[in-house]
Amino acid sequence: MAPQIKKMLNNILSQIEIPPILAFKKKASAIEPKQGFVFDMTQAVPSFPTFSKIIDHLRDELLKPENSFYSDVPGDIKLRSEIIKHHPCAKNLSPDDLIITAGANHAAYTALTLHFNIGDKILLPEPYYFNHDMALKMLGLESCHVKMDSANGFQLDADLMIEQFKKTKAKGLILVTPNNPTGVIYKSSEILKLLNWTSTKKIQIIIDETYMRFDKEHLHLSEISKFIGHGLSLVGSFSKTLSLTGYRVGYLIQGVNFFENVLKIQDTMVICAPTLAQKAALFGLKECDQDVQDQIDLINERQRILSESSKNWTRFKLCSFGAYFAFIQHPFEELSSEEAALKLFQETGILTLPGAVFGLGQSRFLRFAYANIHKTELGTALKNLCDFDQLLGP
Ligand SMILES: Cc1ncc(COP(=O)(O)O)c(C=O)c1O
Repeated sequence: MAPQIKKMLNNILSQIEIPPILAFKKKASAIEPKQGFVFDMTQAVPSFPTFSKIIDHLRDELLKPENSFYSDVPGDIKLRSEIIKHHPCAKNLSPDDLIITAGANHAAYTALTLHFNIGDKILLPEPYYFNHDMALKMLGLESCHVKMDSANGFQLDADLMIEQFKKTKAKGLILVTPNNPTGVIYKSSEILKLLNWTSTKKIQIIIDETYMRFDKEHLHLSEISKFIGHGLSLVGSFSKTLSLTGYRVGYLIQGVNFFENVLKIQDTMVICAPTLAQKAALFGLKECDQDVQDQIDLINERQRILSESSKNWTRFKLCSFGAYFAFIQHPFEELSSEEAALKLFQETGILTLPGAVFGLGQSRFLRFAYANIHKTELGTALKNLCDFDQLLGP
């Protein structure tokens, strides 16, 4: 008889849902959409390949022997300096105020490890980016969901958040602006108001600014910068704007006073972000500003097309949109959001994510990552949606 092999598993992991996109797509793969086409708006993936300029540059970089080695643990100093030059509220920072990470998810995990102790309560506006909820739980932190108001377009209200801090005694908060999944852009004035209160209370705010290029006024109030390293850290990415999702490169602006401690985490987890990916990001930051803007203009056009189309819907309702995403109320009160998403897929070919993956209170919603697909395809997808909406009747 074969010996019984005992499975050793961290107790916490068994209480965390498996990554939702893969799981949902597996369920959807059993369905044949009526129209035959699939419009995949599940995961936020750029609809364009890495700019050819970057690829050409990497061809040269690949031949340099130093690029096959580790970079400095905190990341290439040229890239760190370039980020400071480009960032709206980092002008007075030094390279040691930040580290280069293997993407924004790695940066967020590092920030949570850096600032909090097991058992701390952390506020998470709901609907939330599910990887943040998963990271909090994995680290033994308590994820305290704060339901945002759909009638208010899921906008951040500093006073309401302060009330939540008083009620829960939470030690931190994760904000995502522009937001995933709702697309909403938080007002810098509300963020500043919140920081003015939290910074006197030993509370840490982490802002995930993965989609910052979609907000022309992102953190534009100059007073915000003084909180970096003093109650505020910023998590960023090159995945979406430079189309470098597979390269794995982002950053964490944590403040110079946390530099030594953040290096302990970095060295233990990855030693450094991928060296060639850092070269790609550096070149992209220096040379691809117009290319990035052109892509953003194209995505904004898709946003306008979606917004126009939504005026013809009677049963579906566009509740918020921006950057990459739209958060849409579906009409099927009796269905779970997963059932509603599968029904929509079958009828229209539009593959979205069920609202419940962004919080259990979000079952009336679906998330459309409309930036994923080109204008013409989006037009066809939305025509299918309009036809389906009309078929459902008033
Ligand atoms: C809010 C947010 N943060 C982080 C990430 C992951 O970014 P990266 O590829 O840089 O890890 C995503 C990707 O969808 C995201 O939407």
